[in-house]
Amino acid sequence: MSSSEREPIGVIGTGYVGLVTAAGFAELGNDAWCIDIDEAKIRGLQEGRIPIWEPGLEELVAKHRDRLHFSTDIAVALEHARLLFVAVGTPPTYSGDADLSAVHAVVDAMPPSDRHALVMKSTVPVGTGDSIKRVFAERGKAGFRYVSCPEFLKEGSAVKDFLAPDRVVVGDDGDWAGDAVVEVYRPLDAPLVRTDIRSAEMVKLASNAFLATKISFINEIANVCEETGADVVEVARGMGLDERIGPKFLQAGIGFGGSCFPKDVTALKQLAGNSGYHFQLLNSVIEVNELQKRRVISKLEKHLGSLVGKEIGLLGLAFKPNTDDMREASSLVLSARLQAAGANVRAYDPVAEDEARKLIRGVDFRPSAPEVVDGADAVVLVTEWPEFGELDFAEVAGAMRGTLVVDGRNFLDPTAVRAAGLTYEGVGRAAARNGGN
Ligand SMILES: NC(=O)c1ccc[n+]([C@@H]2O[C@H](COP(=O)([O-])OP(=O)(O)OC[C@H]3O[C@@H](n4cnc5c(N)ncnc54)[C@H](O)[C@@H]3O)[C@@H](O)[C@H]2O)c1
Repeated sequence: MSSSEREPIGVIGTGYVGLVTAAGFAELGNDAWCIDIDEAKIRGLQEGRIPIWEPGLEELVAKHRDRLHFSTDIAVALEHARLLFVAVGTPPTYSGDADLSAVHAVVDAMPPSDRHALVMKSTVPVGTGDSIKRVFAERGKAGFRYVSCPEFLKEGSAVKDFLAPDRVVVGDDGDWAGDAVVEVYRPLDAPLVRTDIRSAEMVKLASNAFLATKISFINEIANVCEETGADVVEVARGMGLDERIGPKFLQAGIGFGGSCFPKDVTALKQLAGNSGYHFQLLNSVIEVNELQKRRVISKLEKHLGSLVGKEIGLLGLAFKPNTDDMREASSLVLSARLQAAGANVRAYDPVAEDEARKLIRGVDFRPSAPEVVDGADAVVLVTEWPEFGELDFAEVAGAMRGTLVVDGRNFLDPTAVRAAGLTYEGVGRAAARNGGN
């Protein structure tokens, strides 16, 4: 029996979601038995090394060393816990469907049991829970319970999101397992949506698709602003004050990336298509996002002409600040497009360089922002890391060979950039009102 009074849990998959879930529950007093097939990762975790960069996670794992147990052996989790939270990856396949092979590997590894439940935190297509229950039934494991409990944490604030979620969604068959999941989350005092399994699965996909739609919408508004002389930052401020709209996810930029939005939007589109429904809106959301990443190239060409031999600096590579996650980052497309256009690309990211090196070829990685701007013909802000807001633009102007700053996240102060004698290009920003560049 565990050292605490709270329900011990198993966590299968110790990536962003699994490790944060385990550490978060440890903070609530639960013992967590964490399983991964990646032996090096488990060895590192046993020795106190955290494989990902996520604010507050290292401290939380260190604080609860006695409650967090790491192993590659699933039997250990089955022995100590009846709730097994599944947080394995569900990446996209070539067809755009979610790849459920890791989920199925977990399902296959479960023994017949009347005492255990799988609690699905991985993002899966609607109907996955029912098909897993069918598999259990066909294999004489009908006693194994199933609960859908989708995860909404955001990388970069994952620990905070776990401890103060907007809501907890529990989709189940109204049995002990659903009750137990509700119970383990009770200390968080979050709004609870208890529903059927399919609806819970859809809440997750629909939420991400809606947020992605909001981003593509404001990006299209930004593009029209560029044609008409309006300023999208002002427009978004005016829109966001309408409480039906809200200010979040109305920041125009060079497109969304990350491990969730692109794949979940595509997976929902695919899911609809597989069931015979053409989800027209999501096609546009995806296409707008792809084109948005490429618009940076035409902005650079507008000012520099041909990019052949030009020195282009990228500030930031991660798909958003406060993470080292490079999955589907806009910088991947951007750096490849720039090199295809003949440019020399140099780049700096405060934490994502190691991950970026695995995915990006031909880029000159530099150890700081000043070393990226030094001698550059143009600089593109790709990720809005706070330190880029602190740059001294007089120094930047002095170090650059050219004058162009493309602010891919509308993060910099255009007035300060222009005051240094630089040319500022944001996304959907009006030209300087009082002269300037
Ligand atoms: N990252 C996010 O921000 C986020 C947010 C909400 C939901 N999700 C969803 O949560 C799931 C996990 O995402 P992630 O970003 O944590 O993934 P990740 O790639 O960081 O981690 C997945 C982990 O699962 C392990 N694994 C794979 N197969 C396994 C198996 N059979 N047994 C044990 N471990 C196994 C991998 O080795 C890896 O450590 C995905 O479905 C994702 O869509 C992610």
